[in-house]
Amino acid sequence: MNKGFSNPRETWDARFSSDEYIFGTEPNVWLAQHTELLQPGMRVLAVADGEGRNSVWMAKRGLQVDAFDISPVGVDKAKALAQIHGVEVNFSIHGVEHYPWKALEYDAVVAIFIQFADPETRAALFKRMKSALKPDGVILLQGYTPKQLEYKTGGPPNLSHLYTEDLLRDAFGDLDITELRAYEDTLTEGTQHHGQSALIGLVARRPFACNFQ
Ligand SMILES: C[S@@+](CC[C@H](N)C(=O)[O-])C[C@H]1O[C@@H](n2cnc3c(N)ncnc32)[C@H](O)[C@@H]1O
Repeated sequence: MNKGFSNPRETWDARFSSDEYIFGTEPNVWLAQHTELLQPGMRVLAVADGEGRNSVWMAKRGLQVDAFDISPVGVDKAKALAQIHGVEVNFSIHGVEHYPWKALEYDAVVAIFIQFADPETRAALFKRMKSALKPDGVILLQGYTPKQLEYKTGGPPNLSHLYTEDLLRDAFGDLDITELRAYEDTLTEGTQHHGQSALIGLVARRPFACNFQ
C-alpha cells in the first residue's frame, strides 16, 4: 500500500482540477534529452503519466504508447492533450498497485517523477517495471534526491520517497545501468516543478539473459 496520501486518487484529482496543465505540456527535459533511446515504432509504457505531457510527446515521435495514472482528472487532461496533438495514446486509469502489468512487453518503460511511492510500494513497482521490459528494453527514470528537501521546488516532502544513486544502483543492479547521475538544474515544468532542483536520472537496460521474469 502507498502510505503517501490516505486517498491519492482524490488528492491528485483535486490538484489536476484546474484547466491549466500543472506540470506543463512540454515533455520532461531529462526525458527529451534521451530521444535517441526512444525510436519510432517502439512499444513504451508511461507510468503515472499524469496530464500526459510525456506520453503525448513520445506518441508524436512515432512510438506506440501505453500510459496510466491513478487520477481520472489527470487522464482526461492527457486525452485532451493527445487530441490537440492528433496522436493516439492507449490511456488507462489505474493505481500502480492494480495496473494489469504484463511481463516482457515493452521496449521502454518511462517513469518520470513517480515519487508518490513509499519504500514498500516502490520495491514492488520497480520489480514490475523491470519485468515489463523485453530483453534489451530500457528503463528511463527521473526523480528528486534528498537535497530537494532544501529547495522545496517540487516533489514529496518525505525523505524515504526520494532517490539516491546507491538506492537506484541497488534496485536496478540486475540491469545494465548506462546512466546514473545526481545533478542540479533549474526546472520550469508548470507551476509544480519550478526552480532550482536536486535531480537524479537513471537509464538501465534489461540484459538478454537475466534471472528475473
Ligand atoms: C509528480 S506527478 C508526475 C506526472 C507525470 N509523470 C509527469 O511527469 O508529468 C505524479 C503522478 O503520479 C500519479 N499517482 C499518484 N499515486 C499513484 C498511484 N498509486 N498509482 C499511479 N499513479 C499515481 C498522480 O496522479 C500524478 O499524476
